[in-house]
Formats: sequence, structure tokens, C-alpha cells
Amino acid sequence: MPLKRKKELEAIRSKIKKACKGNTAFRDSQPVFGEGPVPCRLMIIGEAPGRDETRLGRPFVGKAGSFFVSIIEEAFGKKREEVYITNVVKVWPKLPTKRLKTRKPLKEEEEFFIPFLKEEIKAVRPKVILAVGRTAFAAIAPEKEFAPGRWAEAEGLMVMPVYHPSYLLRRQKSLKESLRALKKSLREVKKRLEA
Ligand code: URA
Repeated sequence: MPLKRKKELEAIRSKIKKACKGNTAFRDSQPVFGEGPVPCRLMIIGEAPGRDETRLGRPFVGKAGSFFVSIIEEAFGKKREEVYITNVVKVWPKLPTKRLKTRKPLKEEEEFFIPFLKEEIKAVRPKVILAVGRTAFAAIAPEKEFAPGRWAEAEGLMVMPVYHPSYLLRRQKSLKESLRALKKSLREVKKRLEA
């Protein structure tokens, strides 16, 4: 990894840590940063870390995340270490219940982290962004309609929006069909990466 890029990423992480410490809503949360090589042609952006991601300090390692990563690895013939994976919101959005149930991030939480995500995109310099779910897509293309499988342009880059894996897993009845559509979108991404 080129030293300059590595330093850029480290600087962004320090800024996030500092910003979280200075914010009462995030002070006690453990941020989960993006991981992968930089620069990287493919950048995967998810919504937020969950319980497992927070415990392990890595994005996309819980049930939905690893399910999604296995599809990525198969579709691109790459290991997860070869793609850059991150989230819009860097801390686990949870309900203050006994079991700390995961919830959707609040608008303010998204807005707090979006400037850091934009810096991260600049450091990663992807050719294509895979926006996993509505939150990820809206973070980088707020004016555009979320249309899974349809290319969009944002941040001067090509963005492919796809459904979030938790959403797919919740709809077991249509899972087969959804996976077919997801794989089709990933083939499009692969084609563009190779062009
Ligand atoms: N795991 C993550 O880290 N982010 C997601 O959006 C989904 C699963």
C-alpha cells in the first residue's frame, strides 16, 4: 500500500476517533473503520457495523455481512482482503434495550459520518463504488432515486446500488430471485472494472 495513501487513511481514522470522543452520542462507542488496500478499484460501502462487527472491530463480518462478502468473493474471484470495505456510519446504531438490538442509523448519525466517508472515498480512489443498501446510496447520491441494479454517477464515480443483505435475508421467499438480480449487478460491476 503506498505510504501516502496509508497515511491519508490513518489521518481520517484519527479524525473520526477524535470527533466521536467529542460527541456525547458516540463517546462510548467503538468505531469500526474501513479495511482493504488503498488505492482500490472496488469500494464497497455498507450502512453501519452491527454487534459482531463491533466485537471484532471489522466491517461486514456478522451474519449478513459475511453472507454478502461470500457472494462478492465468488462474483469477482477475489478474497475480501483485495477489496476495500467500509460503512457510512462507523459506530453500531443500537437500541438501549437489554440485548442492545440493532436499529437503522438516524439521519443525524449519517450526516455526522458522511464527510469522513467522502474523505475515505478520496483516499481509496475507487473506479466503482458498490453501494450496499439505501443508506449507503443516499450518503453519496442524495438526490438520486435508489434503484438497485441501475448505474448512477456520484462523486465523479460510477456507483452501483444493490439491496442490503439484511433486507435480502429477511425476505427468504424471494431470496433466490434477489440473489440472481444481485449477481447480475455484480457482473456489470466486474465488466466495468475490467474495461
Ligand atoms: N455489515 C456491515 O458492516 N455493514 C453492513 O451494512 C452490513 C453488514
